[in-house]
Amino acid sequence: MPNTETTGAVLQARDVSKSYRSGQQELHILRNLDLSVQAGETLAIMGASGSGKSTLLNLLGGLDRPDSGSIFLSGADICGLKADQLAGLRNRHLGFVYQFHHLLPEFSAIENVAMPLVIRGLAPREARQEALPLLQQVGLEQRVDHRPAALSGGERQRVAIARSLVSCPDCVLMDEPTGNLDEETAAQVLELILQINREQAVAMVLVTHDARVAANLDKRYQLTDGQLQRL
Ligand SMILES: Nc1ncnc2c1ncn2[C@@H]1O[C@H](COP(=O)(O)OP(=O)(O)OP(=O)(O)O)[C@@H](O)[C@H]1O
Ligand SMILES: [Mg+2]
Repeated sequence: MPNTETTGAVLQARDVSKSYRSGQQELHILRNLDLSVQAGETLAIMGASGSGKSTLLNLLGGLDRPDSGSIFLSGADICGLKADQLAGLRNRHLGFVYQFHHLLPEFSAIENVAMPLVIRGLAPREARQEALPLLQQVGLEQRVDHRPAALSGGERQRVAIARSLVSCPDCVLMDEPTGNLDEETAAQVLELILQINREQAVAMVLVTHDARVAANLDKRYQLTDGQLQRL
């Protein structure tokens, strides 16, 4: 059921809380947090190490569930969905770029990019055909058959970005996409991200420590004491 209150938002967290238990102690990481991501916008989430940025991204991406509150993806509350329903919705509407790329080591660059389509049921040959223009777009047409171990850090991150876009998602969630790269490569990857955003109008949520990266995005938020403040 579409929820009319979320109109315009491709992704929304409403009154979300998340705690972790550590021995006797309960760690309240997110407290009644709200966030709305509008179609096509770019958004930075900043905050100290351990403030809960990855926790929030995992909840937004349906990789983990909040203790309370709701996550709306394209109008549907994903928190009550069964695992297979959630996986299907995530596959169609969301892309994810992990902090350490999470490419499958035994598969080539193009096979990694094609993987979300194969999971969706497309024949591997067709999936490769759809993956190829994305690898070209990120400048890796000469590296399609390389496995991740034979790619540089920046190249791996570009493969991960291509993979996150292959299913034409409404929104891509990126956890420190430039975090492990040298300054020049980080600037190139950021430029690529912004170019894709302009061309495809896909919304992007970037977790970043880098104020220069954040300065290039539409909105900036700081995660402190479990809540987001607009900067
Ligand atoms: N599965 C877990 N069990 C217990 N505590 C956890 C778990 N996952 C995360 N935490 C704790 O929750 C807090 C937030 O973790 P999170 O990974 O979201 O931080 P972060 O803001 O992404 O940090 P960084 O900038 O270092 O990546 C940390 O203190 C961490 O120790
Ligand atoms: Mg993190």
